[in-house]
Amino acid sequence: MRRGFFITFEGGEGAGKSIQVEILASHLFEEGYDVVVTREPGGTRIGEQIRAITHNTENVDLNPVAEAYLMSAARAQHVAQVIEPSLESGKVVLSDRFVDSSISYQGYGRKLGPDLIKNLNALAVNGAAPDLTILLSVTPEVSMKRRNKSKKAKDRLDLQQHDFYSRVYEGYKVLAKKEPNRFIVVDAGKSIEKVATEVWDVTQRALNEYYGKIKKK
Ligand SMILES: Nc1ncnc2c1ncn2[C@@H]1O[C@H](COP(=O)(O)OP(=O)(O)OP(=O)(O)O)[C@@H](O)[C@H]1O
Ligand SMILES: [Mg+2]
Repeated sequence: MRRGFFITFEGGEGAGKSIQVEILASHLFEEGYDVVVTREPGGTRIGEQIRAITHNTENVDLNPVAEAYLMSAARAQHVAQVIEPSLESGKVVLSDRFVDSSISYQGYGRKLGPDLIKNLNALAVNGAAPDLTILLSVTPEVSMKRRNKSKKAKDRLDLQQHDFYSRVYEGYKVLAKKEPNRFIVVDAGKSIEKVATEVWDVTQRALNEYYGKIKKK
């Protein structure tokens, strides 16, 4: 069987990743694709336990290197238990964040450096690489406004300072520029509907190219 297709969503807090993953999943489902929706950190029982540590507002003293290893540990579990098996069975995998989040947040945001984070994650990703990465791009200001309006409880990463988010935002831009074939940057400052339409267009194009216009099921 032909290998599945791996799509990751990236962007800052409040960019709309979770909502867009949901909308895209329902479009794909309607089109007959076998879809798996997952997220990082998390996506597995053990990964969700790690998420409870990384997102706990009490853990303000979490060391940046420890944070990087925790994200990577959750990812190793995620790749082994969800991503690889799903791709091997031909599914379309939608992940709300993946390794680019670590490079942007720990590499640029925490200033550990992009190369160090990439190397630290090599063992965790074990060769798994997204076929398409949709970067939902909103400025840190818009991101903050949306998160403040949202009913979702604040987590540890919501409590960081503005300059941290500026570095994350700039970091993502660097990553997208480096791999223009994999990254599609979507202006996520537009309405939810407009962003969803753009995401759907981009995804359809990528899937048609990959599967040669033959539907998966
Ligand atoms: N394009 C948009 N325009 C206006 N509001 C939006 C848009 N996209 C998302 N929102 C709102 O912003 C909030 C955050 O959206 P969502 O949870 O999807 O973002 P996220 O990228 O998953 O954030 P996090 O990284 O915190 O999980 C929600 O209240 C959502 O309704
Ligand atoms: Mg989310």
